[in-house]
Parts: sequence; structure tokens; C-alpha cells
Amino acid sequence: MGGKEREATRREYDRLKAEILEHDRRYYVLDDPVISDAAYDALMRRLLEIEAEHGEWVDPSSPSQRIGAGPREGLEPYRHRLPMLSLQNTYSVDEVREWHGQLKNYLKTDDLGSDFTCEPKLDGLAVEVIYENGTLTRGSTRGDGRTGEDVTENIRTIRSLPLSLRDSGSGIPALIELRGEVVIGREDFRVLNRERLKQGEEPFANPRNLAAGSLKQLDPRITASRPLDIYFYGLGAAEGIDFATRREILETLPRMGLKTLHEYSAVGPLEKMLDHYDRLLDRRESLPVEVDGAVIKVNSIALCSRLGVRSKSPRWAIAFKFPARQETTRLCAITVQVGRTGTLTPVAELDPVQVGGVEIARATLHNQEEIERLDARVGDTVLVERAGDVIPHVVKVIRDLRPKGARRFRMPGSCPVCGSAVVVDPEEVAMRCPNRSCQAVLKARIRHFVQRTAADIEGIGWKLVEQLVDRGLVARLADLYSLDRAALAGLDRMGDKSAANIEAGLERSKRLTLNRFLHALGIRHVGEHAAGLLAAHFGTLEKIRQAGEAELEGIKEIGPRMARSIMEFFADGDEAAGLEAMAAAGVSPLPFEQREGGVLSGKSFLFTGTLSIPRKEAEAMVKDRGGRILSAVSGKLDYLVAGEKAGSKLKKAGEKGITILTEEELRAML
Ligand code: IVH
Repeated sequence: MGGKEREATRREYDRLKAEILEHDRRYYVLDDPVISDAAYDALMRRLLEIEAEHGEWVDPSSPSQRIGAGPREGLEPYRHRLPMLSLQNTYSVDEVREWHGQLKNYLKTDDLGSDFTCEPKLDGLAVEVIYENGTLTRGSTRGDGRTGEDVTENIRTIRSLPLSLRDSGSGIPALIELRGEVVIGREDFRVLNRERLKQGEEPFANPRNLAAGSLKQLDPRITASRPLDIYFYGLGAAEGIDFATRREILETLPRMGLKTLHEYSAVGPLEKMLDHYDRLLDRRESLPVEVDGAVIKVNSIALCSRLGVRSKSPRWAIAFKFPARQETTRLCAITVQVGRTGTLTPVAELDPVQVGGVEIARATLHNQEEIERLDARVGDTVLVERAGDVIPHVVKVIRDLRPKGARRFRMPGSCPVCGSAVVVDPEEVAMRCPNRSCQAVLKARIRHFVQRTAADIEGIGWKLVEQLVDRGLVARLADLYSLDRAALAGLDRMGDKSAANIEAGLERSKRLTLNRFLHALGIRHVGEHAAGLLAAHFGTLEKIRQAGEAELEGIKEIGPRMARSIMEFFADGDEAAGLEAMAAAGVSPLPFEQREGGVLSGKSFLFTGTLSIPRKEAEAMVKDRGGRILSAVSGKLDYLVAGEKAGSKLKKAGEKGITILTEEELRAML
């Protein structure tokens, strides 16, 4: 390569680097991408191409270096320049007031300047990130506060973390140690878990454990594959930069390209901070990340210095925690539940307890392996947790409280409902009842079939399903279509009106869109998303039935296991007979194409805030009418549907002039 050419390539390389970093920032920090994923990939490909040619140009500031190097032996210890302290915790407003009183005594003043900040307390993993002359040089975990682990290579893979700082207006500091939390957003967590369930894998317990586990991986490539995010709230050592207030910190960091939760924070006198805490608590379930309380801090840094620190925590801050979502209770019994695909799940039957405002009487124990890992025995006192959308689960056993004679549990060798010998899936830890006409399987399949995101037949709850199956009225899904008003009216607690409604619902469900119908059938491993892919690819049920394994596997996102399961389903004589019986009863799913002409065709939507129905169902309604769901507010968004307590998305959409709909307005459009 000639010198001129080399120079031109170098210029192109520098330009590409800057451009990609800027797109990363727009996408991951500002949540406001300006180019398509494909265009971004093209830039990245070109960058990698140049780097393959000119290895000597590559340095740690290249966006390619986020991808993650190979595994290491173990994480190195890292000693923090200044200790990473913890916080005094409380659940009571009286103790917050008491703390306030102590501050005033300590400072011998009533005047705390412009007072306090109240910031969300992020429930993730505490880290320190160091920038020297604007370049990211180190990331470490908190560890015991003095010494943590060096996770520099892992932390670099977090896309919202800039590799170099921007100039906030007052120059780039020689050194700045930033303190923050690594988290996984609630939506990312939901998506990831949905995916895992679809693949027949155990869901992750909560975003915090997953974030912590992901950051401490020995192989940074694993870290890179997880949707980690990072928010900052404070500083360690700093040279060449100075702040007078915490408010300034919260507002300056974003200008340096770092994420904070300043839009969820407040500044003012204590009473205002307590109001802000209440507001945060109200919005707990709709915040983008898990928040387990608020941190109230003295705003003035000068006052903070005067207040100083105790042995483990500063005097200038207090964590006012939200009511716990973990509680201890007694494990009274372990029962076994049979799911719609025959999977046997051990369930902890608990002494009912209030966990974060909801009564919990049962929690999943997942499988035999999990019971052994926990060493859970009947009679034990256990810690149960309810985190976001995840089914309540047992976190651990309190061994010290184990009563004498607490009994171990073993999964049964036969189905507790039909008695068939259980089979152990070699690919999974799960045990299954193989009997397709097992009444427990049938009941669960009916419930799945009629749910709102599937056939959407109102009025068929658990109690009714029990009766339908126990009385022999329904022996397979297709039998639902031979129910009429007369047959239904004979059942317990069934009025004429309800019977008529169910009949009408059944009638309507004969013309479902193909994706919904497929989802409703409950084919193993085929969830709502995969059903959509199949429907889009094949268009009709007949074509799916005739498809070979190779063709199925050829579809993006359909793996061998799903393909095999689909083949098995259609090859099964009972299932085939059931489908024929449904067809004879007039069930005829709409070919997928018809969705294209849906009233919302070509329009994009995003939901925010609390709706009157689960968000998933609202999204299904839009998708059924041909609409698309986007994941963030951007120029491509046509409508933002705002429920109650909508937050930053609403603000952002308003600023961008995007049409905002109420739920009622959306329903009117449909
Ligand atoms: S200030 C001297 N602010 O809570 C300690 N901490 O219990 C100052 N945390 O591990 C901490 N969100 O990582 C502060 N907005 C926030 C926070 C926060 C989460 C974590 C922090 C620390 C723990 C202390």
C-alpha cells in the first residue's frame, strides 16, 4: 500500500471510529438511534476490515474492542484508591427524620443550604470506573469496599459505557473515578427470560443476580452477550474537576456521555424528598430498571466533607428502602404440578405471606436439581422472592431454623394425576408426563388455548375448565367446539348470559389469525414469537403441516429442537385427528397475509405506563391488526400509547411531536 493510500485509509479509520462511537452513544445512552441496525453493521464491518489490515492501529478506544477478548484464569484483585462505602439503611420515615435531626445537631445549624437530593437506589452491582485523561482505563467491583475485582475487560463490553469521555464544557479531567451500578433493564430482562423459557431453559431469577453474574464472567465474550447497562451516581477520587453540589454531578455526568438517573431524581428540602420517595415507590413497576429504594443525600459537597464518614458509611446519606419483595415463611408442603406440555414442576406450598404488597402462598421450586441445590425440606423456613414479572421462587433455606424431622422430598416416578411413568427429558432437567390425554395436561392446554393472547375466549376460567374435563364434556381441545349453550348451562355457577358469551367467543375464535391459532395449540417450544415466525413464513396451516424438518430449521430463529417438536406435533395421530375435528366444526384460521391489510398496517407503536390490561396483550392486539411494536421512542415511531404514570418516554415523545394516544383512543382505532 502506498503512503498516500495508507493515509487515506487512516483518515477513513479515524472517521469510522468516531462515527461508530457516536452511534453507540445515540443508541445506548440517549436511546435515540439515527441509523438502521443494518447501516450500523456495515460501518462496523468496514472498521473490522481495516483493523484486520492494520492491526497496529487498533487501540483500546476502538469500538471493536468491546466485543470481548478470550477467557482468563481468574479475576485480579483491585484496591480502590478511596474505599467504596455502604449506606445506612432504613425502611422507616421516622428514622429518616431522625437522621435529619442528627445532621442538624452535628453541623450545629438549621440551615442545610439547598438541602438534599433524592435519587433512585439502583438494585444492581456496585462498580467503579476510572477515566484517565478522558480514556477508560479500569473497571472494578466493590468487593469488600477496600479491594474489589478488576473487571476492566468485561465492563468495556457494556455498550452504554463510553470508552472516552466527552468534554462537558469545562475540559477533560486528568482523573475521574466514577461510582455507579451495573444493571439489566427490566424490559431486557423480560425479553431474555421469555427467550429462555421458549428454549426450554430455566428463567433467570432476577436482574440483579444476572447482572452480577454477567459482569464477573471470566470470559468477556459472555459478558458482551448480555444486555448490561450502567448508571452513575457519584465519584471517588478526581483531579482536574470539581463539583459544588450533587445536583451538579447528576447533571454534568450526562454531558460527559455517562448515564445517570437524574430525570428520576429530585433536589430540595427533606419534606419534598419524602414526597419524591412516595412517587418513586408508586412508579416502581414502571421504572426502566429495578430500584429498591431511594438514597437521600446532602446536596452540598462542602457540607458532606464536614459531615464525613463513619466506619462503613457516610453521615451525609441514608438509603430509604422500599418494602421488601423477599420474605421468610414456612414451607408447609411440596406438591407437583403438571403443565400443559406435561412438565412436572415441584411447587412450594407456603404459609401465606405478604411480599411487597402481594400475598404469596405458593412458589416454584423449578425441578429436583433446584430442590437439592437449595436443600429444601418440608418444614423448613425459606426466603421467598417476587421480582418483577417472575413467578415467586424460593431464594434460600434458613438452615438455622430447620426443625427436627424436616423431610427431604423426591420427585415422584409417576404422574401425580394420571399415574403414567414419568420420562426424563435427556436435553433438560425436566421430568414429563408422556400421556397426551392426562387430565392435568388437558386442563392446562385448555387454559392456554383460551387465554387472551391465544384464542381469546372470555369466561373460561380454571373452575370451569375443571368441570368441563372432570365431567367428560371436553376430552381434547377440539371438543370445546361442540359445547353449546345447553351443555354449558348445566354447569355450576353458569348463567344463561355467561353461557351465551362463551358460545359467542368460541364462534369468533373459529376465525383466528394463523399465528394466534398456532400459539393456542400449545406446541412444545413454540411460543407466541415463534408462532408469528411460522405464520409469516408459511401463510397457512396446511403448509406448516407439510413442511420438512430442513425447511423448518431454515427459518431464522427456529432451532432444531423446535423444528423436531413441530414435526412430532403434526405427526401425532391424536393431534391430527383433533385438528380435523376442529376443521369439521368450522375452525379455519385466517391466512397470515390478511394481517397485512390490517387497519394498523405500516404503523408503529410503543406502549408506556400502566395499562388496564397486561402490556403483552395490548401489543398482541396491535400486531394482530398489522401494527409493529418498537422498543424505544425514535423518529420511526408513529404512536406512543400512554397509560397511567407514564414517564420519560412520554416526555420524549412529546418533545419529538409524536402522536400520543390514550388506551381508549387506541381501542377506537382498532
Ligand atoms: S450513594 C458511600 N446512590 O447502594 C456510598 N448508592 O448501600 C454512597 N446504590 O453499593 C452510595 N444506587 O452501589 C448511592 N443512587 C445511589 C445508589 C447507590 C445504588 C448502591 C451503591 C452501594 C449501595 C450502598
